[in-house]
Amino acid sequence: MKRVFSGVQPTGNIHLGNYLGALKQFVELQKDHECIYCIVDEHAITVPQDPKELQQHILDVAALYMAVGVDPKKSIIFVQSSVSGHAELGWVLCCNSYTGELFRMTQFKAKSGGKESVGTGLLTYPVLMAADILLYDTDVVPVGNDQKQHIELCRDIAIRVNHKYKDTFVVPDGRFMKSGARIMALDDPTQKMSKSAINVHSRISLLDEDNKIKKSIMRATTDSDGEIRFDPENKPGVSNLLNIYSAFSGESVEDIAARFAGKGYGDLKKEVVAATQDALRPIKDNYAQIRESDELKAVLRDGADRANAIAEKTMKRVREKFGLGI
Ligand code: TYM
Repeated sequence: MKRVFSGVQPTGNIHLGNYLGALKQFVELQKDHECIYCIVDEHAITVPQDPKELQQHILDVAALYMAVGVDPKKSIIFVQSSVSGHAELGWVLCCNSYTGELFRMTQFKAKSGGKESVGTGLLTYPVLMAADILLYDTDVVPVGNDQKQHIELCRDIAIRVNHKYKDTFVVPDGRFMKSGARIMALDDPTQKMSKSAINVHSRISLLDEDNKIKKSIMRATTDSDGEIRFDPENKPGVSNLLNIYSAFSGESVEDIAARFAGKGYGDLKKEVVAATQDALRPIKDNYAQIRESDELKAVLRDGADRANAIAEKTMKRVREKFGLGI
């Protein structure tokens, strides 16, 4: 069985983009893969976090994993900082990556915004992400499009190390959804939907009430030509709605557009509202139960033990290859 690894940052506001780009794949892949899903708290502290809030957000994401359908009997669910191999391998990989390639990462450029004093963790973030993946001899990494460049870097580092130290790492592949890989902000469809945008109507959070879902989608930015057509470049707003609908229904964007020929944007929006509300309702119900249950922490402890057993094997191999320790 091929091995899958992925992670989500515990930073609140888990949204439709996270779900349609990544979490939905997590559930699908469980059927015929060995899956490891991480809550990447060490990534979250690359920007300042309130410690109490971070603790809550870790449990929130763990509960959401399970609420969308990740089954702890089938998959490993754990918190990154519970397995010390992530930080240890992160350091080894830092010594095998170049500052030039890290400065070129578009996410670093966006987050650092050209400032002089930027946290070193923001720069080395993709190296820690590579460590997360390589620590588990991962074959497949289900993520949204925004992580494509980070996966490429992970592959480059793995190939580089394998060249020097022979067969150290499995070289992984990214896996991207057809329709959900890049969900755009509802208020500005030229930007991706994000956890941190100030306008709450830019995103649908997975726990949003039906009314909020309706409001955010009905006021989504479209355009003035009135034609329902999939054309992300010229019609980003309408195309984003078609994408969301397609990701939920499995119908192609072209088929949906054809079905709505001659109808107005309001008609399309109403169906997107209904599809979103229907999909999120069971997730919200499951979440409320799981988040309050004692089982949650036990799942994370068990996940950490199982993850650690795999990680330790890799670290033993890495230490030997590099000549670390005695
Ligand atoms: P994070 O926490 O920002 O996002 C979690 C997942 O959601 C995807 N995503 C989106 N997909 C579609 N449309 C969007 N608008 C959208 N926004 C986010 C992300 O691509 C991601 O799959 N660096 C990662 C976390 C990470 C990781 C890893 C992932 C750390 N180590 C190892 C995979 C493997 C991140 O910040 O994701």
